[in-house]
Formats: sequence, structure tokens, C-alpha cells
Amino acid sequence: MAYTVPKLKDFSAAALDKAAEKLLAALERESAEITAEADWKTFRDRWMARKNGVLTQLNDLWLKAAPKDAKRDVGQKVNELKRQVEDAIEAAQKKSGGAPLSRLESDRVDISLPGIPRKIGAEHPVIKTMNEIVSVFRNLGYSVQEGPVVETDYYNFEALNFPLNHPARDTQDTLFIAGQESKPQSERLLLRTHTSPVQIRTMEKIKPPIRIVIPGKVHRNDPPDASHSPMFHQVEGLAVDTNITFGDLKGTLDHAMKALFGSSVKTHFRPSFFPFTEPSAEMMVSCFICGGSGRRGSEGCRPCKQTGWIEILGCGMVDPNVFEFVKDNGYDSRKVSGFAFGMGPDRIALLKYGVDDLQLFFQNDIRFLRQFA
Ligand code: PHE
Repeated sequence: MAYTVPKLKDFSAAALDKAAEKLLAALERESAEITAEADWKTFRDRWMARKNGVLTQLNDLWLKAAPKDAKRDVGQKVNELKRQVEDAIEAAQKKSGGAPLSRLESDRVDISLPGIPRKIGAEHPVIKTMNEIVSVFRNLGYSVQEGPVVETDYYNFEALNFPLNHPARDTQDTLFIAGQESKPQSERLLLRTHTSPVQIRTMEKIKPPIRIVIPGKVHRNDPPDASHSPMFHQVEGLAVDTNITFGDLKGTLDHAMKALFGSSVKTHFRPSFFPFTEPSAEMMVSCFICGGSGRRGSEGCRPCKQTGWIEILGCGMVDPNVFEFVKDNGYDSRKVSGFAFGMGPDRIALLKYGVDDLQLFFQNDIRFLRQFA
């Protein structure tokens, strides 16, 4: 009669040993009867098959059925028996001259299965736009500089020719860091309202001539709506050398706009004011949505408010008062001159991709962002 695993009533060590002995005797008897490979396979399946093999029954009838306090001993016994069964099967296989080791077979890793795909993500549309702007200027020989988002009053205002208590500071809707009152004004911390402080930080470090672009985050106390956000981005530019003129400013920015928006866009400068540039200007580009006509078919063009022009950046010639703050590093306003500009990549991305709500860029809804991947 073929061996079957008995249900145990008694889980004591002695009873276990006795039951194990019977099992091992059966194992020996059956393996001794093996002569051909086919016998071995039957033998293997009888003992090792997941479904109803002797080992599986051992698990179910002995281990699982064991009372709590006997579980540990039964577990050890079952494991020991498992090893003995596996060894017997291996030995029997060699004897029968059979196929590759069953354990190798079952442990095999199928390397032809496809791997687990890793999603690598994609550039955010604003970052993508910033990188495009930066690379236009890198191609002109500009290098990239960065600076801290938490900035001092000195770099954000004072050294940019915003005198203390000057009303020009009010235009910047500044978010101040709390608890700074005990410090001198110039050391008090705030969230930078523009990337212009990095102009000063860079001129302190690097002697003229310099040509740099400064991408980064800025903050202003603007409630969020379709075209405003308390956090947004800027790309700043600064070129200082001997004999830099407003003509260089116009030529450089005109080239950059054509590189960004297509060779047919036109640029237009109109006077403006910034404390750190003199003269200052706002630059417009001809609307690349309607081609400058202000109309789209029978309707007015919305992005340019039917004017045919889109305001894209602020710029100007570096004010000599700014050079005063870095004159010890070679910025003598009688010898060098420069231009600076700052633009908002968030707005440019809105226009470029025809998105009508700035908030979509910052809500991180994957369904929105995926469209730019
Ligand atoms: N910093 C200015 C702003 O944020 C932009 C600007 C930069 C203007 C450089 C002139 C020169 O509005």
C-alpha cells in the first residue's frame, strides 16, 4: 500500500518522531523501486507536487493543524523531512539518469520576460521653456548663474538702487520673512521678488567682462488667478563689457526672440522705469498667435488683446549707481557699461502652448502635465 500522510492527533515529540520514521521508511522503499526515468518522475510528483504531494500534505496535516505550542517543533520537523525528501529525490534522479535537477528547473529565472518599466517623467512645460530661453543665450556665449530664493534686503533692493523707504519698493509686493526686526535693514531676509539680485552677487564674484543668464524662482504677494501666482519664474540676463550700447541690447534681444518664437517676429521697445537700469524699456514682440494683425479670422486675438503686440520683458542699460556697489571688483562705470533684461517664462509658456490658466502649471495634475511629455 502506498504511503499517505496521516492526520496527527498527538503532536508530542515522541509521536512526531514515530510518524516521521514511517514517512522516511516509505520514502526509502519507494526510491529503491525506481529503475527508469519515468519512475523517477512519478516518484518526484508524488512527493513534491504542489497540489497534494506528500510535502504539501505535511504542511496541511501536520504543520497547519498543530496546536500553537507545538508549532515550533512541528515546523522544525517538517523542514527536516522536506530536506530529506528533496535529497532522496535528487539521489534517485542521479540513479535513474534523468533530466536536469528539479530544483534548478523550478528556481530558473526566465530572463526573456519583459522587465518592469520605470516611468522616467518629463520636463515640466515651464522648466522646458526656461531651458529653451537659457540655451538661446548659451549659444551666444552666456553662462548660467543662480542665487538664493531667500534673499537679503541688500541684494534684492539696496544694491539695485532701490533706496531705503523709496516708493519703487512698493511695486514689488514683497513677501518678508518674519522676525527680522532685530537685524540691520540690509540683512533682513525676504523672498526675492526678481532674479536681479543675482546680477550683484555675480558681479561681486566675477570681474568684467561678463555675460550671464539667471533662471530661477521668485515670489510676490499676488493672489493666484489665471495670470498671477505668488510663485513664478524669471530668466534674467546681464552683459557688461567696455562699450556696450543700447544697440547691443536691442540686437541681442531681437535675435533671442526670433530664436524663441520664429524668424518672422518683430520687436518693439517702449520707455519704462526700473531703479537699476537707465534708460529702461519694456520690450514687445509682435503677436506670434495672430501674426501681429490683432485678429483671428472674424474674431479679435485674445493673447495680444487685439493690439498685435505682446509685452514680453523689462530691460535697460545698467544704472551707474548699481556699478557703484561692485566697483571694487572692476566695475568702474567710467570704463564699463552693460545691459540687463528679465522675462517671465511662465507667461511665455502660457502663450506658447495656448494655455489659458496659469494655475494649471502649478497644480501638478498629471493629466494636464502629461500632454507636454
Ligand atoms: N527685475 C525686473 C522685474 O522683475 C525685470 C528687469 C530685469 C528689468 C533686468 C530690467 C533689467 O520686473
